[in-house]
Amino acid sequence: MADQAQRLRELMKQLPEPSPEPVPEIRGAARPPLAVAIASGKGGVGKSVLSVHLGQALAEQKKDVLLVDADCTLANLDILLDVRGRCRLHTALDSGMRLNRCVAECAPRLRLLSLGTGLGALAQQADEYGMRSQLQSLEESAQVIVVDTGAGTARMVLAACLAADLPLIVTTPDPTAMADAYTLIKLLRSRRPDCLPELIVNMVRTREEGREVAEKMRGVCAKFLHFEIKPLAVICSDRATANAVRERRVLERGRHFSPVRRAAAQIAEHIRRSRGLARQSSFFAAAIALLCAEPGVSMRVRPPAECVPLHA
Ligand SMILES: Nc1ncnc2c1ncn2[C@@H]1O[C@H](COP(=O)(O)OP(=O)(O)OP(=O)(O)O)[C@@H](O)[C@H]1O
Ligand SMILES: [Mg+2]
Repeated sequence: MADQAQRLRELMKQLPEPSPEPVPEIRGAARPPLAVAIASGKGGVGKSVLSVHLGQALAEQKKDVLLVDADCTLANLDILLDVRGRCRLHTALDSGMRLNRCVAECAPRLRLLSLGTGLGALAQQADEYGMRSQLQSLEESAQVIVVDTGAGTARMVLAACLAADLPLIVTTPDPTAMADAYTLIKLLRSRRPDCLPELIVNMVRTREEGREVAEKMRGVCAKFLHFEIKPLAVICSDRATANAVRERRVLERGRHFSPVRRAAAQIAEHIRRSRGLARQSSFFAAAIALLCAEPGVSMRVRPPAECVPLHA
């Protein structure tokens, strides 16, 4: 018996050491993801359509994308994406629901969160809700955040652009859209001189027309703001894209070749090449801090350096 036990011990010694348990990968936990904000002065210039296509293009590059509807008065990405049964952040805040009740899976790696007026409420009563930490966890589960803002220069729009790594300003060739885009750029630069918005010219008849619009915007920004705005993409008007919006087939349309899809892929590639996908601080924390910088509201999180409060 003693010999048998000895042989067993020797056999056991010859077996390879068990390999250590595989460590589960925690994606994005270390640093918050890169944030892209899509804004415009004038409404109806194609921000939401571009946001969806950009989200989709990034998801196709195997990035986990959080699409954020930050249009605080007329949020409608859920309608565009035909998402049902999800609430907006302000509803969750009002009724004590968990944040995941506001998050919809729209496509593989593409989730949607509608803020409604929720970010403003959160900025005022930040510590009353566990929502701030839920938002942070949600943010850390993504690799890129694409923020669709409302038109104009409201506080939420400015906060989203100033908190983002890459603010994209959309215009069309309409002189009113160009003038309003200029006003928005001017406001962003006056509040944060290191803010570097880039330009998207949408719904052009020809690429030549797009280049002319970009050149005019570059000239006027250089002359009056001493800032060279970079044209990131020119997008031709496309009837099929407009039809897809009417039929709520934007995601489906995004899989076909179209000018918006091509531009979105180009922007996604630009993001991949020129920017790291992680940033130092949280987008939501920075946006809330900017909104907190209002008279009478305590400053709980510092806004990014060099940033003038929005009420100034
Ligand atoms: N490249 C394009 N070609 C043709 N139509 C387009 C294009 N881009 C956007 N559109 C159309 O323009 C309209 C407005 O688009 P969208 O809702 O994306 O604009 P928006 O800037 O988000 O508007 P709002 O300021 O109201 O949020 C939609 O009907 C859409 O189909
Ligand atoms: Mg919109």
